[in-house]
Amino acid sequence: MSTEAQDGTLTVTDNRTGQTYEFAITDGTIRATELRNIKVSDDDFGLMTYDPAFMNTASCRSAITYLDGDNGVLRYRGYPIEQLAEKSTFLEVAWLLIHGELPSQSELAQFTKDIADRMVVDPSVEAAVKAYRQDAHPMGVLEAGFGQLSTLYPEAKEIESDPERMDALYNTIAKMPTIGGVAFRHNQGKDPVAPDPSLDYSTNILKMFFGADYAPDPRLVRALDILLILHADHEQNCSTSTVRSVGSSQVDPYSAVAAGIAALYGPLHGGANEAVLVMLREIGSKDNVPEFVEKVKNREALLMGFGHRVYKNYDPRATIIKKACDDVFEVTGVNPLLEIAVELERTALNDEFFIQRKLYPNVDFYSGLIYEALGIPSEMFTVMFAIGRAPGWVAQWLEMINDKEQKISRPRQVYVGPDERDYVDIGSR
Ligand code: CMC
Repeated sequence: MSTEAQDGTLTVTDNRTGQTYEFAITDGTIRATELRNIKVSDDDFGLMTYDPAFMNTASCRSAITYLDGDNGVLRYRGYPIEQLAEKSTFLEVAWLLIHGELPSQSELAQFTKDIADRMVVDPSVEAAVKAYRQDAHPMGVLEAGFGQLSTLYPEAKEIESDPERMDALYNTIAKMPTIGGVAFRHNQGKDPVAPDPSLDYSTNILKMFFGADYAPDPRLVRALDILLILHADHEQNCSTSTVRSVGSSQVDPYSAVAAGIAALYGPLHGGANEAVLVMLREIGSKDNVPEFVEKVKNREALLMGFGHRVYKNYDPRATIIKKACDDVFEVTGVNPLLEIAVELERTALNDEFFIQRKLYPNVDFYSGLIYEALGIPSEMFTVMFAIGRAPGWVAQWLEMINDKEQKISRPRQVYVGPDERDYVDIGSR
């Protein structure tokens, strides 16, 4: 977080020329473009920073999510994640992320209705999903579904004007679970179940997955709502920065979100929750944990659901999820994989390899166990993540569009290819 104590100036001496430069430090950062003033000659391009994977580069100023990875702190718009998980609902959090403040009662009632009314999808989306192979991965279907929404709502290209863009943002939150539900039912060879606008958001999700007659235990609905809250935003993670980057071309938000879904799909990001379950099944028994941990240390496997680019401490979301696991298992009975997960966590947290590298369980380590207890198959886990992350994506997109400092996203490179050379005719190669 920025403090005035972090502000000041930085003096740099270029040892190539002996020249000294002074840069302003604001919020603990210097402006990378100012480094361009550091040159060895007038026609020199100027100094750049080299930062593959953005390990130490802030790409925006954001007022949405605060994350302190060393101390395991996560806040949305200033509110601690622990308080939101305990007291709030997913739609209230979605409003908070988009609008910056907690909603009044009437605002929340209107927002809940706005989302419920938008959950239904155009029949052409269902028709398109039916054309996929029955084993089509639901993340691929979701990604394509958002491409299709872009064709169905061409007015979303009006990115500077309300109500068009608010429609698109609300549609994104509302239709994400519906398309996910259609994909899920397609995998099972079943017809889609239409959303019911009289139901709350999380009950609707479970009914769209398991059938209109399914009557979920309220404790399971609450656990799902908590999981969605925990996933709602996580500042400049891979998929969110993808949404911002693609959105910076001024494409419509559905297309930007489709790109975010693609980024989330990868096993190092949202796909990790699915990979954790695959890993736990492969380990098979608590007794095999030491052998697996050795494989990880020998670099033959990754411990999925462990480690984080920013958290170098216990992920606060993992703590909340672990507790939610207990609530869910009270209703469903304990998932046998839990025993393996707990033993794996215990072994890793006591092992020098993981201690030295500050590797702790992340949000994905236990979330899959809850989804499985809810009866959701592992291919759907990343879709659940996408449903939760939708408010974060759209809130960050909106912040980016309204930020006068933002331009089309376009990193620089250090060219390391061949110098100029003459074309060689194919017969002479
Ligand atoms: N298992 C074994 N070793 C690991 C792991 C892991 N899960 N994560 C990091 N390491 C090691 C890594 O090999 C490296 O060791 P060394 O310095 O000796 O080469 C060290 O720890 C630092 O890791 P890194 O790869 O430089 O860290 P990163 O910030 O580039 O990667 C990460 C972060 C999340 C991609 C990585 O920790 C990982 O692959 N984790 C497993 C996948 C996972 O659970 N992803 C979900 C992330 S949280 C939710 C989300 O964002 O979607």
